Amino acid sequence: MTNYAEFHQRSITDRDAFWGEQAQLVDWKVQPTHICDYSNPPFARWFAGGVTNLCHNAVDRHLKDRADQAALIFVSTETNQERVYSFRELHAEVQRMAAILKGLGVTKGDRVLIYMPMIAEAAFAMLACTRIGAIHSVVFGGFASGSLATRIEDAAPKVIISADAGSRGGKPVAYKPLLDEAISLSSYKPESVLLVDRGLVPMAMVAGRDKLWADLREQNMNTVVECEWVDATHPSYTLYTSGTTGKPKGVQRDTGGYAVALAASMKHIYCGEAGETYFSTSDIGWVVGHSYIIYGPLIAGMATIMYEGLPTRPDGGIWWSLIEKYKVTVMFSAPTAIRVLKKQDPALLKKYDLSTLKALFLAGEPLDQPTAQWISEGLGRPIVDNYWQTETGWPILSICKGVDDSPTKFGSPGKAVYGYDVKLLDETTGEELKGANQKGVVAIEGPLPPGCLQTVWGDDARFVSTYWTTIPGRMIYSTFDWGIRDEEGYYFILGRTDDVINVAGHRLGTREIEESISAHPNVAEVAVVGVADQLKGQVAMAFAVVKDASLIADEASALKMEGEIMKIVDKDLGAVARPARVRFVTVLPKTRSGKCLRRAITAVCEGRDPGDLTTMDDPAALQQIKDLINS
Ligand code: PRX
Repeated sequence: MTNYAEFHQRSITDRDAFWGEQAQLVDWKVQPTHICDYSNPPFARWFAGGVTNLCHNAVDRHLKDRADQAALIFVSTETNQERVYSFRELHAEVQRMAAILKGLGVTKGDRVLIYMPMIAEAAFAMLACTRIGAIHSVVFGGFASGSLATRIEDAAPKVIISADAGSRGGKPVAYKPLLDEAISLSSYKPESVLLVDRGLVPMAMVAGRDKLWADLREQNMNTVVECEWVDATHPSYTLYTSGTTGKPKGVQRDTGGYAVALAASMKHIYCGEAGETYFSTSDIGWVVGHSYIIYGPLIAGMATIMYEGLPTRPDGGIWWSLIEKYKVTVMFSAPTAIRVLKKQDPALLKKYDLSTLKALFLAGEPLDQPTAQWISEGLGRPIVDNYWQTETGWPILSICKGVDDSPTKFGSPGKAVYGYDVKLLDETTGEELKGANQKGVVAIEGPLPPGCLQTVWGDDARFVSTYWTTIPGRMIYSTFDWGIRDEEGYYFILGRTDDVINVAGHRLGTREIEESISAHPNVAEVAVVGVADQLKGQVAMAFAVVKDASLIADEASALKMEGEIMKIVDKDLGAVARPARVRFVTVLPKTRSGKCLRRAITAVCEGRDPGDLTTMDDPAALQQIKDLINS
């Protein structure tokens, strides 16, 4: 085993040599001439001069050794389908999809928006885009028309790929009407909409614009579409994520850096080998789905499971049964899912042969000790918490199992991952906190390693102003998370410093939810905060000031208005963003300068001391919230 501290140190101080070696884990059409061009900080151009293709690395290059081995395993407990695609079959399907896109006029650099459930065609779509150098932008299927419209507007896709419906708990969830509404809300209009008809719900087709995938596939059964070789710095995709301001940011990823980062992470962190099976329970709409359902495992030559369905249907043993059936060696999930499974019959964990499993990785939200303990004892396998963000695309903190035999510590996602020069900064002075056990903002000194965001789509200035601060001669990236580091270099994450909340591992911006709620005609003002929840980690709680109090004079009318508000959020952003409760107050707690004291509201909702309130304008405002919570 390598000395991890040295391994990490070398990745920072001998950056080019370190990453030059990692770069050999992927195929290049032309080798890079520069490993890291950081001549224009904070913009890093990784593997400049190199020419490659993400789809080639994920699919084509494996045909030589494993054409008939499993590549994509699609399992739906919603529609009772199960289909294994070999690398050869995946290659054929991706080419058909690529041919369709080319036929619809998509060329290198064009955007293609993908709004799809967890079906194999979504994977074909993503890989087809990167195959031809088009930039995909996957929008989570749980988002509704308002969220989708914002993303259509910003990404300006030539084509949108979607489906008639997703399915949840055995019930179809129509996608097409939401998509049609989103397109009508957006001032930008796509040229074509490509639809996968699963036969779940009837679909109204818009003549001239809408096309059926099945029809066009028939016409392209044997069309050969070679990979479009692109510069390492060519964008592979954008993925929208929430921040402090209401408008989601398009995190833009490159091609070469991403391929290398994922290949290296499969080796050093996840310990997945070619020919094995990887099972990530996330969704392609999130970053984990991009990196560790689609690209990471496939780049490593592994089979990857794409699962559509609940973890508890037909019963809480479904995921464990898949591990047995497909001999899964690496599993990746989120703490919320494990908390859900914890409520199921414990015998289900013992029912299946899980002996192939090397480790379970968990990420996306804090892993609480009882959950970690339960799953660790139940599986008898290492549980590895890892911390990262949509922006970084792969772990910032973890125990890198392939190169580090240090133990994990409950409550900590581990140490700084190679490539990341992690710092803790004092919130007010911005000074680096060098000692142990001090609370600060988790930050990363530039350049960010390969695979992280290149910029914010279409907005370099926003990238710089949102994430970066300059200390003389150095640029530092903020994660917007609080953290603490112990004497042994293990970090502990203590929550966000901004208005982002984490509901069941889903990252949501409270400002977006507030904007949506404000659309209710009787809402004058609203504050949304994240409040600790046993199952989901956090839930959104809304406190609204109404324009006309007579409309909520009694409990029934207040409940009615609460229901109306929830419907607005469902329709605009999707049920994922729906607040657990909407409560009504006459005034919101604010500072004298008019800043809403969200942190104080959260504290009160969680029964904690709200801290220093000397700047508060009207103490009665917080008291009202306290009374509501205790009522
Ligand atoms: O607050 C941190 C939390 O999730 C945020 C990033 O969410 P997202 O962009 O959706 O990316 C998820 C990628 C796994 C972080 O800023 N977070 C993520 N992982 C952890 C975590 N909080 C605590 N522990 C973690 N392991």
